Amino acid sequence: MPVDISLARVFHIVAFVMMAAPMYMLIVVNERARMGPPDAKMDRYMENIITRNSIRCFIFQGTVLGSGLILVWLLDYGMGAVASNWVILSKLVGTLLLVALLSYVHFYLQPQINRMVDGLASGNPPPPELPALRRRRKRLSATCLFILLSMVVLGLRLSQGLEDWLTILLVGLAAIFAWRVYSSLVRLGWV
Ligand code: HEM
Repeated sequence: MPVDISLARVFHIVAFVMMAAPMYMLIVVNERARMGPPDAKMDRYMENIITRNSIRCFIFQGTVLGSGLILVWLLDYGMGAVASNWVILSKLVGTLLLVALLSYVHFYLQPQINRMVDGLASGNPPPPELPALRRRRKRLSATCLFILLSMVVLGLRLSQGLEDWLTILLVGLAAIFAWRVYSSLVRLGWV
């Protein structure tokens, strides 16, 4: 395999592995929920991890998008395939959706949550809106995990030619898994 294609594949695959953040952030917030009511130090620690992780995630999203477009070009799909091949188009739209959802969380939801958590350190009581904002962020995170896993399935469809039924089955399993990570600690990995 030519070196340029190998490198593009390596960057594409490593970047999407690094984007597993939604899964681990869901586990972190589910663990936090078991620790009881808001607490200034513990919540600051968790929110710092979540806030800073968004920046890393933007970089990996950019890498997966860039390497994906380079693969389209190097593998001779032709850049028109971005509009005419439904699998590639879905991957592009899915990736842009991930960027949009992360932008909404990072630039809109997270600053509000951070201000509220800062208020806890000054001795203010937890604002009543805090749980609702966190719940919305958690739902969006589970949605991102589902989209990410679906993009992996579509990637394998492109490179390995997965059949229709297998693609649908795997996307269905991705939805079930995202729901499990949303609603439990997935102590045994898959369940
Ligand atoms: C979150 C977003 C994405 C994920 C998780 C993802 C994941 C994957 C995976 C797992 C593969 C299979 C790699 C292999 O078997 O070698 C793949 C292949 C591919 N992806 Fe993506 N991808 C994403 C976004 C994109 C985007 C935005 C594009 C371009 C518009 C793209 C274009 C491609 C192409 C052309 C291949 C085929 C490579 C081959 O035949 O070896 N991907 N992707």
